[in-house]
Amino acid sequence: MPDFLSEAQALFEYTQSMRRDFHAHPELGFHEVRTAGIVAKELTALGLEVHTGVGGTGVVALLEGAKQSPVVLVRADMDALPIREETGAPYASQNPGVMHACGHDGHTAVLLTVAKMLNAHRSQLSGTVKFMFQPAEEGMGGAEKMIEDGVLENPKVDVALALHVWNEKPVGWVGIAGGPAMAGAEIFKIKVRGKGGHGAVPHLAVDPILAAAQVVSALQGIVARNIAPLQTAVVSVCTIHGGETFNVIPPAVEMTGTIRTFEPAVRTRVLERFEKTVHSIAEGMGCQAEIELQILTPATINQPETAARVQAVARRLFPEADVDTANYITMGSEDFAFVLEKVPGCFFFIGSANPEKGLDAGHHHPRFDIDEAALPRGAALMAAIMTDLLKS
Ligand code: NI
Repeated sequence: MPDFLSEAQALFEYTQSMRRDFHAHPELGFHEVRTAGIVAKELTALGLEVHTGVGGTGVVALLEGAKQSPVVLVRADMDALPIREETGAPYASQNPGVMHACGHDGHTAVLLTVAKMLNAHRSQLSGTVKFMFQPAEEGMGGAEKMIEDGVLENPKVDVALALHVWNEKPVGWVGIAGGPAMAGAEIFKIKVRGKGGHGAVPHLAVDPILAAAQVVSALQGIVARNIAPLQTAVVSVCTIHGGETFNVIPPAVEMTGTIRTFEPAVRTRVLERFEKTVHSIAEGMGCQAEIELQILTPATINQPETAARVQAVARRLFPEADVDTANYITMGSEDFAFVLEKVPGCFFFIGSANPEKGLDAGHHHPRFDIDEAALPRGAALMAAIMTDLLKS
């Protein structure tokens, strides 16, 4: 096995300059034109077969080793968020109101570095690496679009991998576990319809505000009273809108929110109770409710065998203490789940915070920034895993 840690360190300036360039020029989901252009240019320069415009602005590249199969896919996401950056960093966003606040700039730079390293060792790869640079990870379905465009076919993907820099943990920490890694997410919209009227004569109206308030309270009983205490689910009402002025009972109230679960059985139970609770409370209060439910992502579930292999590679690469295999999970959701629904694989976390340098704001925060020391560690680990999976 090549010494990927040293190789990644030697490429640090490349990785950092790429990451900072992407950071300074963030693009929203499905608008990653500049980013995808740089990615395609870098991959073409390596002599790889490159396909652009996959699932919108996605880029796919193939690196064939000594044999054609198996095919291992490795994915990075390229999109930024609609957030106004407040880091004050020299490489801060030059695109006002758009920011790489989740570290996808780092993922893109890491995967380009991985491509460089693996390309230099292609004769040692007994199979094909498929690089997937995806658009629109942030709740816009970029992975699904690329799957529809055939990213998992021609050649057919056998195993898939992805990493996420993780600011909830310090640089040095690596989180890899089999089973659930990130939650499945649903978006809901509830419309409670009553009958509008004068605020002074409520008996002539049907008040949707009171009904909506009861619905919000009752929804919190679903997880508390229907889900086993050692299982996990979240139901959050995050917006509520109704009424225009102080003396008019409005005709309707709208609410939106999210449901997060890991286990399919828990998800089914929560959704069943959700529908029943909303409808029966609204009706009990004389109103009608309409529910719109949209699945954002399924749960991200790691195949135990692949996860065990990734753990073994990480233990060889890093000191034992750095590798956390204790089933670290988060209620955040991840678009890569759509890939892992179709092929086995592993999604893992690379600690990227450094509180001493003030680099520990959470993901999606206007002051989010990472310690770039995490990047070569991620690149080395990913290159080592790919080489391990493709050893003859
Ligand atoms: Ni992210």
